[in-house]
This record gives sequence, C-alpha cells and structure tokens, in this order.
Amino acid sequence: MTATTERAVGSDVRRIDGPAKVRGLAPYAFEHEVDGTAVFVALVQSTAAKGRITSIDTSAAQALTGVLAVLTHENAPRLGDVADEVVVLQSDRVQYVGEPVAAVVAETSEVARDAAARVVVTYDAQTPDVELRTDRDDLYAPEQLMAGFETDSVIGDVDAALAAAPVGVDITYETPNQHNNPIEMHATVARWDGDVLRMWDANQGPHNLVPVITEAFGITEDRLHIVSPYVGGAFGSKAYTHVHQLIAGMAAKVTGRTVKLELTRPQMFTLVGHRTPTIQRLRLGAELDGTLTAISHEVVEHTSQNAEFAEQTATATRLMYAAPARRTTHRLARLDVPAPTIMRAPGETPGMYALESAMDELAVVLGIDPVELRLRNEPDRDPERDVPFSTRNLVACLRQGAERFGWAGRDPRPGVREDGRWLVGTGVAAATYPTRRRPSAARIEAVPGKPYVVSIDASDIGTGAWTALTQIAADALRVPMDRVDLRIGDSRLPKASGAGGSTGITSWGPAIMAAAEQLADRDIPAGGLTVTGEAGPGDEAEQYSSHAFGAHFAEVRVDRDSGEVRVPRMTGVFAAGRIINSTTGRSQFLGGMTMGLSMALHEESVLDRTHGHYANHDLAEYHIAANADVGEMDISWIDEVDDLHNPLGAKGIGEIGIVGSAAAIGNAYWHATGRRVRDLPITPDKYF
Ligand code: MOS
Repeated sequence: MTATTERAVGSDVRRIDGPAKVRGLAPYAFEHEVDGTAVFVALVQSTAAKGRITSIDTSAAQALTGVLAVLTHENAPRLGDVADEVVVLQSDRVQYVGEPVAAVVAETSEVARDAAARVVVTYDAQTPDVELRTDRDDLYAPEQLMAGFETDSVIGDVDAALAAAPVGVDITYETPNQHNNPIEMHATVARWDGDVLRMWDANQGPHNLVPVITEAFGITEDRLHIVSPYVGGAFGSKAYTHVHQLIAGMAAKVTGRTVKLELTRPQMFTLVGHRTPTIQRLRLGAELDGTLTAISHEVVEHTSQNAEFAEQTATATRLMYAAPARRTTHRLARLDVPAPTIMRAPGETPGMYALESAMDELAVVLGIDPVELRLRNEPDRDPERDVPFSTRNLVACLRQGAERFGWAGRDPRPGVREDGRWLVGTGVAAATYPTRRRPSAARIEAVPGKPYVVSIDASDIGTGAWTALTQIAADALRVPMDRVDLRIGDSRLPKASGAGGSTGITSWGPAIMAAAEQLADRDIPAGGLTVTGEAGPGDEAEQYSSHAFGAHFAEVRVDRDSGEVRVPRMTGVFAAGRIINSTTGRSQFLGGMTMGLSMALHEESVLDRTHGHYANHDLAEYHIAANADVGEMDISWIDEVDDLHNPLGAKGIGEIGIVGSAAAIGNAYWHATGRRVRDLPITPDKYF
C-alpha cells in the first residue's frame, strides 16, 4: 500500500468544487440541459391510503394542448421483478396516500401540472391503520435489522438483574416520524438512446441504483448510464431507487423524449421515505456507585405494507456501556404508510436519544454527575461481541468536552438558574456510530505532463468528498493536488459504494490508494498508463469492534412565559479517526449537530389518523432548524488514527454529529426547567 505522505491529507483545503458551485457551473440533476427539447412529468397521487382504484378518467388531461401522454396502471410499460416498494403504475392497488396513480408527460412543466390536476380517480378505499402503539397485538420481530444486525440480543438474566438492582430507571421515550429534506429535491432527467437508458439523477451513488433500474427495465448494466456529479444534499433518502426514477424511465420510453421529473417539496413527504417513529422502553439497573448491572432497550417502530424496513434502533446500546446483564429487542408494526427509509444515522439517532436520556435520568436518581456516570461504565471490550475496540476514545471526548464547555462545578439542581424570564440549564450526552468499509474500485490514467485522471463512482452529496478524495489521491501519488483530476458520480466509472453509512472515505480512499500503488516506482511511457485498484473490507470487522465516538454538551434556555426553547451554545468533541480535511470535516460535525438540534426542537411529521397522510408536508409546517436557531458551535476532535480498520486510519464522520445531540439538549432542558419531555420534539407547548 502506498503510504500517504500527509502533505494534503489532514490540511484544511477549501472545497475544489466550491468555485463552480457559486458560479452556477455545477448543475444539479434537474438543471442538465440534455438537448434543449426536454419534456416534463407531473404526478397524480393517491388520496386513498389503502384500497383499489375503481376508475381513472384521463380525458380532460389528454385534451390539454401540450400533453404527450398520461400513464396509468392500465397503459404504463410493465416493469420487471423489482421490490414491492418501487413497483409503480402496475396495478389498481394503492398502499399509501401519495402513491403515484398516474403520470402526465407534457411539453411544459405548467401544462403537466395542470393536466395532472384534471385526472379524475375514484377508489374503493379502506380506513388506514397508521398508529404506532406498544399494545398492538400485531407487533412482530423481523428476521433481521437493516445492515444485517440481529433483531434481538440478550446476555444474562436481565429481569433478575433489574429486580435486584439497588437503583434503576424504567422510562419510555418516543421519537416521531421525520423526513429527509435536502435542499435539492429528488430529480431525474431520463432519455432512451436506442436501447440505452441515460439518467441525470440526484442520488448518493449511481451504482446504488443500477440493480433496481436494470431489473425494472430488463436491460443489462452496460445499457444504463447514470450521471450525478453534483448533488444538493442527501441524508439517506437519495441512497436507494424510488418510484419517481422508474416513472421517469417509463415516461421517456413511452414518449421517446428526454423527460424531466423533479419532486415537489410536498412529494418529498411521500415518495422518498422517512425516518420511522419509535417507542423505546429503557430500563437501567445500577449499584449505588453508578456501576450499571443491567441494560434493557426495547424498541417498537413501524414499517409499511410494501416494505420491511427494520431500523437498527437499539444497536448502539449493545456497545456503549459495560453491564453484565443486557437485552435489546426490535418489534415492528406494519402500517398503511409509505415505505420508511434511512435518514442520517438511521437507528443510532433515535436509539441514542433514548439511551442517553435514560443515562441522564439515572444520574439524577443516583446523585452522580452525568459525565462521571458514563466514565464509570466505560467497557474495556465490546460488551456484547466480546472483541476489542480497534480504537475507542469516548472517555477523551467526554473529558475534552467537559473542559471546553466549562462543565466543572455545574450545580446539578434543576430549575434554579434564571436570567430574566429565561430558565437556564446544561446537559451532556455521548455519541457513537459504526465504522465500516465497502468494496470499491478506482482507476488512474497517467500521461506524462498531464494531471492524473482519477476515476471512481464515488459521490459528493455536499460533504466535501470530492476535495477529500483529491487530497488522498494527491498524497497516494505523491503529487500536489493540482496534479489530480478527480472524476466521480457516473455509473460508467469504476464501481464504488454509495455515500451512505458514513462509509465513503473509508471505502473510496483505500481504493484510490490501491490504484496509486500500481503506479509506484513505474515509469510512465509516452503513451500513458492506466491502472486500477480495488479495496474493501478484510477481516477487521470480525476481529474488532470499530466505531466513532463523541460527546455533546449543550446549554438550553427556556422562556418561562412562552415555553420557547433556545440553544445558545453546543460543544461537540469527536473521536472519528484521521480527519482528512479539517474544514469540510468540521462542517460534517456541525451539520450533524445542527440536525440533532433540529430533531430535538422542531422536526415531526404528523400522520393524520383518519386519512393516513402526513399533514404537515412542506417546510412551512415541517420545521427544521434555521440559522437563527443555531448558536455558538464549538467543534473539535481527538487526535486519533485507526490503523486497525483501514489504511487511511479514518472513520466516517457524516453521521456521528447527529447522534446524541438531541439527548444533550433534552437533558439540558430538564436541567433548566425540572421538566422531562420524553417525546420529541420539545415544542413550547410541552413546557405547560
Ligand atoms: Mo446515510 S442515512 O447512511 O445516507
């Protein structure tokens, strides 16, 4: 393996795609001007959550000038054998409100939308069942969780240990439905060139989409070309294929035109997944000195009729703290909702909210400082897998965070600090996120006197990966960064994993290093030389438990008259392996912490129990944290290199920032007010 010389890696290089972005030269999917003759698709969505379409009248839509086609289940091309959740316009069955039941293709976007509004659909509809409760008699245990985790885990006699514990807590927390809302809505431009399907698409990795789209249209991989160099944000909803991409492909096929399909913001709330709500029962048993004797974390969450999405909510609890008796369970309710999907740290985010809130409540019962309680339960090995951690620096994060935040001397009493009408409190929570790597390949073309062309189907969803990978390539090739021309976001480039699970850098970086190694000490002939390299997981995942860790500290102010909650400052300290770029790295932590703040105070998609739709399906009513919500953000990291996991020594940083930050805010809210809010978000009404 070519050693990085660390000339570029570790420095704070500015985004290399920044100038193009601010000059409008970095088009997102919908902005691609393919041939100047594109037509537009508008969707007609089901108003019924469950039932059958009894009639569709498209005559008024067809009569509009400029309408080229109206696709329904009666005339749309037949799709191949794809997963139920992406099957669309194939039958009269509807399974959630918002399911596309027709698609209009027209010369302009305005005509397409006008026509879509004129399609008349009638349904034989049944009352939907969308309510998640723990007393449902149809809860079931999925075979396994997302990412292959076991559904349940148990060590020791947990109930006996809980009963015998001198001190304990038994608390239920709830987190709501939440929706991915990147700035760039999902969009696809599709065109058939003969039997080749081309797509300019907003996604988290073109290769992620290849299996479903090729299967749907019955084409081989070499007949699908997906281009996605620039993506305007993504938190998981752009990781997988959704129905709109298949509709775009069908519309292009039927009309023989280049079609553009961009979801509206409200459509983002039905067609590209959401974070499942959770109900989580946390039981902790402890000795009087704070030593945990038992941990039980039982999760109830939902999935849809058309998918089995089993989020790994309690898996972080399996490794956070030492305790001899321990149990985690996950149960699902299958509801009449759209298919859930992943959303920034799926599982860890709601799960660690509950665990870290319960740890705070236990600290209060014990009369032990909540930082100290965590330090006393630090395991020396992974407590459930019984393997060593490759690196684990949670203790350092907690200590450094306490120092930076000014935690020492904190008065533990709740509800006693006032500043005018504001009640003031502080809180802490820990964070963790798994470190993984996935198979990826890279190609390097070397021509004397020219920059190295480094190609890999990686994806920069706004993270700065383009810049970080260029740094890695420059060091691996032992050249300055301007000698590297990195090409990403194209399914015709060497196959790489998608931008998900915080695996980008740990997967793509080593592939580029492996390709560069092929060039080491070789003379480049006048005609140039092309090499490829591959990298992927070895047996490190079996040998070690590898995770990033972190600690969040927050100050919360609550207006005693209105219940308004402000967060004037947060401190986040992370131990996430080698940080490739301190500027873009800091932005990842900052973005994650901000999204955690958003989760704590704002984000909630409200399901209408009568009609089964998400009632607040736009950014006017689904609130996310804006600039004015974010105060001083103090972000730092521990000097850590995890050489046991991958040759870069890096861990993922895209997701750990959100994990635990909502709990730190909730814990600070209690310290400010003396009130525990155990169902997010902490809106002003919950103070009274
Ligand atoms: Mo992230 S939820 O793994 O895209």
